[in-house]
Amino acid sequence: MKHSILILGGTAESRQLAERMAKDIRYAVELSLAGRTRSPVEQPVPVWIGGFGGAEGLADHLRQRDVKLMIDATHPYAARMSRNAVEAARLADIPLIALRRAPWKRQEGDLWHDVGGVPQAVSALGDSPRRVFLTLGRQELLPFEAAPQHDYLIRSVDPIEPALELPQARYLTSRGPFVEADEMALLQQNKIEVIVAKNSGGPASYGKIAAARALGIEVVLIQRPELPEVASVDSVEEALSRIDHILPPL
Ligand SMILES: NC(=O)c1ccc[n+]([C@@H]2O[C@H](COP(=O)([O-])OP(=O)(O)OC[C@H]3O[C@@H](n4cnc5c(N)ncnc54)[C@H](OP(=O)(O)O)[C@@H]3O)[C@@H](O)[C@H]2O)c1
Repeated sequence: MKHSILILGGTAESRQLAERMAKDIRYAVELSLAGRTRSPVEQPVPVWIGGFGGAEGLADHLRQRDVKLMIDATHPYAARMSRNAVEAARLADIPLIALRRAPWKRQEGDLWHDVGGVPQAVSALGDSPRRVFLTLGRQELLPFEAAPQHDYLIRSVDPIEPALELPQARYLTSRGPFVEADEMALLQQNKIEVIVAKNSGGPASYGKIAAARALGIEVVLIQRPELPEVASVDSVEEALSRIDHILPPL
């Protein structure tokens, strides 16, 4: 019988890992998504969409499917899911590995303004009107209604519906990866003065950070939430070799 494995997904790495594991006859892999995007990219393994009902619901899922190992490959800002994963692995008594992307590191020329969360990012924009590029998730945009003096360009995977109650907001729907040259053109065409972003890490959304550095544009960077201490790897390759060590031969 194959080893049943659950990958908590939502990142490019989770898809790459699932793809690699799907080719290995030792594993039967399921990948779960929060269901935040309307038409998620196709996945190479069966997908569970929409949550489990907290840590206990996830633990029940693990037991029902006789899951032997769980991999937390969620987005670095999905802290609740990562905490649920730790608790569920404990309840179901199975090993857990976290696949976590390293954050971007400040480089010479970066004009980063680190903030602790979305409300702090809104304050960091200041009182004077500015041209702002927002690259946050749909659920994080509402607090910007408290700062209607700015002119916003908002990029998201799905349309923002209903639109925000902001007098000056334009919307752009697009899915990454975003390369530096395109990001530079976008920033220049829209005369952007400041970007608000998360420190997602990885190459897919780094283009705007590199473009901001080249153009001398400030980036209000929302710091990562605290994540639980878990045995972690930072690449798909490392995850595969760790999995190989943890699971006994069939
Ligand atoms: N989740 C993503 O795929 C994703 C992708 C890109 C960015 N982010 C960013 O992460 C931050 C928080 O996002 P969030 O609300 O999705 O995470 P969260 O606050 O950690 O999770 C909230 C709930 O969503 C469900 N969930 C989250 N990830 C899941 C997964 N991989 N599989 C199944 N269920 C999942 C769980 O519901 P139950 O308790 O019912 O199990 C979880 O308790 C935001 O800044 C968002 O922009 C998330």
